[in-house]
Amino acid sequence: MKKIRVGVMGAARGMAMIDQLINNNDAELVAVCDFYRPILDSVKARADQNGISVKLFDSFDDFLAYPDMDAVVLANYADQHAPYAIRCMDRGLHVMTEVLTCANMKQAVDLIECCERHPDLVYNYAENYCFFNTTQEMRRLYQSGVLGEIVHAEGEYIHDCSSIWPQITYGQREHWRNQTASTFYCTHSLGPIIHVTGLRPIQVIGTQSISLPYMRELGNVAGWSSAMEIVTLENGAVVKSIHGCIKREPGSINYEFYGTKGMVETNRLSCLDEKAPTLFSYIEGEGCPNCRGERKTYSPEFKLEGDVNAGHGGSDYYTVYWFIRSILGDEEAKKEAIGVYEAVDMCIPGILAFKSINNGNCPIKVPDLRNKEERDAYRNDTYCASKYCAGDQYHSPDEAYGGLPPIPDEVYDAVRVKWEKGEQG
Ligand SMILES: NC(=O)c1ccc[n+]([C@@H]2O[C@H](COP(=O)([O-])OP(=O)(O)OC[C@H]3O[C@@H](n4cnc5c(N)ncnc54)[C@H](O)[C@@H]3O)[C@@H](O)[C@H]2O)c1
Repeated sequence: MKKIRVGVMGAARGMAMIDQLINNNDAELVAVCDFYRPILDSVKARADQNGISVKLFDSFDDFLAYPDMDAVVLANYADQHAPYAIRCMDRGLHVMTEVLTCANMKQAVDLIECCERHPDLVYNYAENYCFFNTTQEMRRLYQSGVLGEIVHAEGEYIHDCSSIWPQITYGQREHWRNQTASTFYCTHSLGPIIHVTGLRPIQVIGTQSISLPYMRELGNVAGWSSAMEIVTLENGAVVKSIHGCIKREPGSINYEFYGTKGMVETNRLSCLDEKAPTLFSYIEGEGCPNCRGERKTYSPEFKLEGDVNAGHGGSDYYTVYWFIRSILGDEEAKKEAIGVYEAVDMCIPGILAFKSINNGNCPIKVPDLRNKEERDAYRNDTYCASKYCAGDQYHSPDEAYGGLPPIPDEVYDAVRVKWEKGEQG
């Protein structure tokens, strides 16, 4: 059977996707685009090692015009996925974007309407944290009904990026990691909760803690602290989604689900002991008296015999796998993959949480953008901290701190030197 010909835009994080596409049973890597030339040299080296030929582009326009391509993976800047996705789909390409889906409400509406214009094209969202062995098992358990109805859930993505900051922001003042709001990157903590339960968020309250001096010293305008989205799901359950660059080593990726018949949670301490079970569940089966259910600690299997050595605990295998299989019409893949409505549900609570923080942590309705009549109120809503797409609705990421002193150029110069020398922050 003919393989799906895939191009990748952005070859830093995109290298994980490139690796999944090399020697793929159903797909072939045909083109890579990045305007940073040295990264294209690394791609060429990787291609040569594997005996394949890949077209390399430093201009997106040229990449988009390349005719022998069926699908594109977008791993470019996190606040620019939606506009590039729209251009790709309007040119007839299937698209998978890295996190996040959209940077403001307008982008969310535009992307949804683009996907609706092209019902025969696949749009997938590469929220890989939904595809850990643990989160896959949580979804299986929840969807089987043994946990009952969701009451409360927590998702946590604590990652102190200060040591790697020079290598992921290159000393660029305008880099999205320096400029976006603290609540923007909500998808790793909230996404799996949406995917496991299949429920939609209907309200969000945003909070953020103190601005972190060690993040400001590296050029992050708000001092990305612990941001929290308190999200209400459509059945009334409450979710705590927390993420940020606060101190903890190793970082923490943690989920908890409490239902009316039981609960399941990841074992936070398994990161300190590879042999420790990764999941704890408590389930009150049919006819079981209150509080006398079955307790279990175990490490669940992955859903498929995929590449367990793929990045992010094997989860990077699944985003690419489900995307390619969805293009090929595989019904299971279409169920497992994350489509545009679910993707938007995972991201817009972070956008609206920023608005909530700037307005005294007020509760804000999360619209259901599946409904066409709900879209008009957001069609021109570009409120966000991303200068790339906010226009005249730009709000500085440090607004709720009353506007912090501008970060001097010397800070970015020093970070750039560290980047060039391959040093840590
Ligand atoms: N899911 C995960 O676990 C995970 C992990 C890391 C990063 N990411 C996501 O991956 C994306 C990329 O992040 P990153 O860590 O690679 O850093 P990044 O955002 O700095 O890298 C983006 C890459 O795209 C290239 N690029 C951007 N715009 C371009 C354009 N118009 N034309 C050509 N090339 C362009 C840049 O040169 C760079 O190499 C982000 O969306 C980020 O959120 C996801």
